Amino acid sequence: MFSTSAVTVRQESINDYLAIADVHYHAFENRQAEAKIVALHRQRYCFEPKLSLVAETGGRIVGHVLYSPRTLRVMGQDIGALILGPLGVLPEWQGRGVGSVLMRAGDDLARTLGYPFVVLLGHDTYYPRFGYVGNAFGFSTLTLRAGAALHLFEGAVEARPVQAGDEPALMALWRIEEAGVDLSVVPDDDLSAWLSPNPRITCSVYLRDGKIVGYTRVSADEPGQVRMFLARDVNASVEIAAALGQGRSLALPLHPRSGSARVLSEYGDWSYRADPHCMARALTPSMFDSYMALMRRGQRIPGRILWPAEFDV
Ligand SMILES: CC(C)(COP(=O)(O)OP(=O)(O)OC[C@H]1O[C@@H](n2cnc3c(N)ncnc32)[C@H](O)[C@@H]1OP(=O)(O)O)[C@@H](O)C(=O)NCCC(=O)NCCS
Repeated sequence: MFSTSAVTVRQESINDYLAIADVHYHAFENRQAEAKIVALHRQRYCFEPKLSLVAETGGRIVGHVLYSPRTLRVMGQDIGALILGPLGVLPEWQGRGVGSVLMRAGDDLARTLGYPFVVLLGHDTYYPRFGYVGNAFGFSTLTLRAGAALHLFEGAVEARPVQAGDEPALMALWRIEEAGVDLSVVPDDDLSAWLSPNPRITCSVYLRDGKIVGYTRVSADEPGQVRMFLARDVNASVEIAAALGQGRSLALPLHPRSGSARVLSEYGDWSYRADPHCMARALTPSMFDSYMALMRRGQRIPGRILWPAEFDV
């Protein structure tokens, strides 16, 4: 599909799976997470094999990049865009242009396929050479103060694990909580979007009178730092926060434009900021350009991305 004198870039095939896992394992200092992330993406209906690209030389796979199609919500509009990652090159091949060949081929293909923009979380000194800009989005947390009066509400909702059939209610919850954030990832319409591949992470729904009114994703390793928090209404926001916090300080991954911000802001302190590692590249004109322009002028707060569950590994 694309080649320099030494390196050819092409779509992955099933025969490449082990070699791709090997590339990421060695590129990321013998860590398994990135290889698992790629494997998990292949199980998702949104996986696009055309955008899982290998760099090959002399019959050996020396690099790999994955672009994942996702719906991103940009200032009220749902847009089919791409999340890039992971990108890895075998250590002995690093610094020889393989990553650059993959990036250029991948971005060109993404543009040809009609994707308007790409987002990623990565090295802020590497990706700008390909046209990516940092501070395109960021991180946002509302930390509820220990001892906030929230505990008065504890016990009104009942938690249970996520189960098949919950998806429509969870999507509706997501829209209520998150649709006002200027840049966010819309969960897939699929049960696995609401489950975590990481056994240390618990995904719960909260019921009131038998109806789903909330959802959380919490790691046993960081119980005070919630990974996803959705609530249907003011009471659910407070009751779920109370149940999780139990009087202790609790960091919620909310954004000032999240639904729960209206009620929970008074109990906590905000931290939100754009980050140089939160990068994006516009490929064709879209609402994303307006978002970037308004954000740069300080007229919109940076969006923030809650990474899909595949990235929990
Ligand atoms: C980052 C990576 C994909 C780059 O691929 P590569 O084939 O080594 O890169 P190229 O040969 O195309 O480009 C080399 C340039 O990238 C720079 N570069 C390489 N790794 C970098 C890093 N981690 N941060 C910033 N710049 C980096 C080099 O300094 C070199 O710069 P120069 O052209 O100004 O001399 C590769 O080094 C890698 O797999 N690293 C480990 C895994 C990783 O960090 N992946 C990216 C996660 S965001």
